Amino acid sequence: MNGRVFGAVLVTIALLAGCGQASPPGTSASGGLSAQSVGPGEKFPAGFLWGVATAGFQSEGGDTNNNWYASEQEGRFKEPIKDAVDFWNRYPSDMDLAKGMGLDAFRMSIEWSRVEPLPGVWDQAALDHYGAMIDAAIARGLDPVITLNHFTYPAWLDATNGPKGWDRPDAPDLFAQYVYKVATAFKGKVHTWLTLNEPNALAIGGFLTGQIPPWQTGPENYDDAIKGMIAAHELAYRTLHMVDPTNQVSTNLFYYYFGNGVTYDPTALWADGPPTVQSLSGILHDFTGLPGPRLSDFDPQTLDFIAIDFYWGISVQGLLNIREAYNWPQSPPDLEKACESLYAQYHKPILIAENGMATRNLAPRADGWTREASLVNHLYYLHQAIAHGVPVMGYMYWSLTDNYEWGDWTPRFGLYSVDGLNDPSLTRVPTAAVAVYRQIATSNSLPDSLLSQYMVSGTPSN
Ligand code: BGC
Repeated sequence: MNGRVFGAVLVTIALLAGCGQASPPGTSASGGLSAQSVGPGEKFPAGFLWGVATAGFQSEGGDTNNNWYASEQEGRFKEPIKDAVDFWNRYPSDMDLAKGMGLDAFRMSIEWSRVEPLPGVWDQAALDHYGAMIDAAIARGLDPVITLNHFTYPAWLDATNGPKGWDRPDAPDLFAQYVYKVATAFKGKVHTWLTLNEPNALAIGGFLTGQIPPWQTGPENYDDAIKGMIAAHELAYRTLHMVDPTNQVSTNLFYYYFGNGVTYDPTALWADGPPTVQSLSGILHDFTGLPGPRLSDFDPQTLDFIAIDFYWGISVQGLLNIREAYNWPQSPPDLEKACESLYAQYHKPILIAENGMATRNLAPRADGWTREASLVNHLYYLHQAIAHGVPVMGYMYWSLTDNYEWGDWTPRFGLYSVDGLNDPSLTRVPTAAVAVYRQIATSNSLPDSLLSQYMVSGTPSN
């Protein structure tokens, strides 16, 4: 992600942790398929949500009213967003593609900046358009999973000489008013909500190191933004439950370190054997506040389920390559560990709100991973977690199509590729992973043929 650099500080975490290597893909069936493993072809739970994840600003095009667009207009990004991939207009055919893969869920975001273009001014046409999108998903048998804030927010929230965005003391209340509008508009149609996308990514990049909008720096801004986002989530949670008590609500964090409630206790550190990634990272967090907010910073009563965006486990390699999404290491076994440790701590269902793999403009990856192998391997380890008793609600692949990767077009994450920078027709071209995902979703299982073709030896990275 251009600009998403949490770099130097976070590298320290990984160095402390001292772990993590990607597992290069091999050719044969895995040593991971041991006696107690999930058998090939075994089913995922009934009602499992098979989906794709998308985000408004990255896909829609034409949203000229948010803080990222303002920065894009100022030329602060490597490449222009142009029309993104025109999801705003092409959503019916894009949802057909999702349906065509046999999926039953669709994660998309609503852009606050479209719904409330000026403070207190509500755009009914924009709300209606989102309503049409939600209806289109439902009509295709795709359960809508709605993100209420995917990094971007109305430009007017920054148009002040004082604090910007989540640093504004009134930001949580303003957000709650928008959430109320959306929750009432889509009551009964949407049941699964994510309030804020990756507050732990935004806090660092947007409010500490100043590498993404709103370009704020320093510990004070960082602390205020964390407090603001936690308050915004908690207010949004209460609002969504007030409107419809059956709503299921969470916030999805980027999985590099969530904290497990570990606090610094030197005497306890070695009590149960050598320090772990979690305990060392917990100490670092206690001294520096990095990275925040942690999952444990949220009131657990405001998390109906635990949602994670899983791209790689905690690793030096991941953090050193954070600028280049196409070099993010693949560590599928860590997905099982992440689910198992989060369930052990929270005892709540888990949603994989994002998982995926980028190439550099469709070129084969240097480490040999293909999208289809990545998909199969991650789902194998997710299945392992399920077999070990973790209630996993569903899996949202990032992403349906290539899209604007926060400043440039080079990382390609799509099941369908689209050249948003150079192809005015924005043609969706299926990658080989489309047929693979279709086989998995339609059978609600990992067919034996896919496992033997794609599984690689697991090299646990923690
Ligand atoms: C974000 C997406 C992003 C993806 C790949 C996630 O951090 O939610 O918006 O495109 O990762 O970088």
